Amino acid sequence: MTANYFAGKTAIITGGASGVGRSLAMALGAAGSNVVVGDVDKSAMAIIDTDLETAGVPHRVDHCDVTQTSSLQAVLDSAVETFGQVDFVFANAGIGAGEAGPIWGYSEKDWQWCFNVNVWGVVNSINVFMPYLASRPERTHLVITGSGNGAYAVLPDVPIYTASKAAVHTITENLHYQVQAGGLPVVVSALFPGPHVVETGLFNSGRVRPEEFDKGVVGNETGINSVEDMKRMAEEYGINLQTTHPDEVAEMALQGLPEGNFWLLELTAENEAKIRRRADMIIGKTTPIPESVG
Ligand SMILES: NC(=O)c1ccc[n+]([C@@H]2O[C@H](COP(=O)([O-])OP(=O)(O)OC[C@H]3O[C@@H](n4cnc5c(N)ncnc54)[C@H](O)[C@@H]3O)[C@@H](O)[C@H]2O)c1
Repeated sequence: MTANYFAGKTAIITGGASGVGRSLAMALGAAGSNVVVGDVDKSAMAIIDTDLETAGVPHRVDHCDVTQTSSLQAVLDSAVETFGQVDFVFANAGIGAGEAGPIWGYSEKDWQWCFNVNVWGVVNSINVFMPYLASRPERTHLVITGSGNGAYAVLPDVPIYTASKAAVHTITENLHYQVQAGGLPVVVSALFPGPHVVETGLFNSGRVRPEEFDKGVVGNETGINSVEDMKRMAEEYGINLQTTHPDEVAEMALQGLPEGNFWLLELTAENEAKIRRRADMIIGKTTPIPESVG
C-alpha cells in the first residue's frame, strides 16, 4: 500500500462505527488520514471515538443519518471546517432488513427501511458529496459499498437486500461513466466486502432500526442475528461457512485506491465460477438455479 497517498488527507465514512466502516476508519487513521465517522449507533460511535483517540488519529465522530441529506451536509460542512478539506468519501452505511420467508409475505416496513438506508443513503450521499468532490482541484474519491449479492449474483432468501444492492451497483457504475464522460477529478469505486461473509454487525441491523420502520418483531425472523448464527446454521447442513474479517476488506480497499481502481473486489475461484455460471445461464437462456452463500 502507498501509505503516503493517505497522509494528511481527510476521509468521511458513513456507517463508520461498526464492521467494514470501522475497519476503514482505523486503517485510514493508521495510514495518516484525518477520519470523520458518521453513524447513527451511539454506543458504537462512543467506542470508535475512544479507539481513534487512543490511536492518536485526528478525527470527528458525528451523528449522521444517510437517509437525510441535511444530516450528510452537516457532516461534510463540519469536516471541512475542522480539517480544511475532504478527499475521500466512503458511502458505506447499509443494513440487512432481517427478511425471511416468501417475498409476498414481507412487511412493507422491511422494503422501506432497506431501500431507505441502502439505496437512498447512496443517492443522498452522491447528491451531497459529488458537487463538493468534483469542485476540488486535486483528485478525490467516492467509494460506494455494494455487495456481490445483487451486483453479480442473486442469492436466494434475502431479496430485499439483494434488490437494494443491485440498485446500488447500477447507480455506482453509472456514476463512474458520468464522471469519466465529464472528465471530473473524482475516482468512483465500487467496494465489495468479502470474498466471504464478513464478520460484522450486518446480521443484527435491527439494533439501529428506527421506530417508524418497526414491524413488531424482535430479532430476525430467520433466527440469524450474527455471523456466528449463520455459521451454526450452515454446519447443520454440513457446510463449513468461511468468513472474512473486516480489516481484510479495509486493507484491500486501501490498496486499490492509489491505483484509482473502480473494482475494489476480491474474488475466490468459487465466486468467479458463480459469475461465469450466471453469464452462461443468461446467454444460454437456461432456467436459473440458486447459488449458495459464501
Ligand atoms: N457483512 C457482509 O458480509 C457484507 C457483504 C457485502 C456488503 N456489505 C455491506 O457493507 C456495508 C457495511 O456493513 P457491515 O457489514 O460493516 O455492517 P455493520 O452493521 O457492522 O455496519 C453498518 C453500519 O451502518 C450504520 N447505519 C445503519 N443505518 C444507518 C443510517 N441510516 N445512517 C448512517 N449509518 C447507518 C450502522 O449503525 C453500522 O454502524 C453495508 O453497506 C453492507 O451492505 C456487507
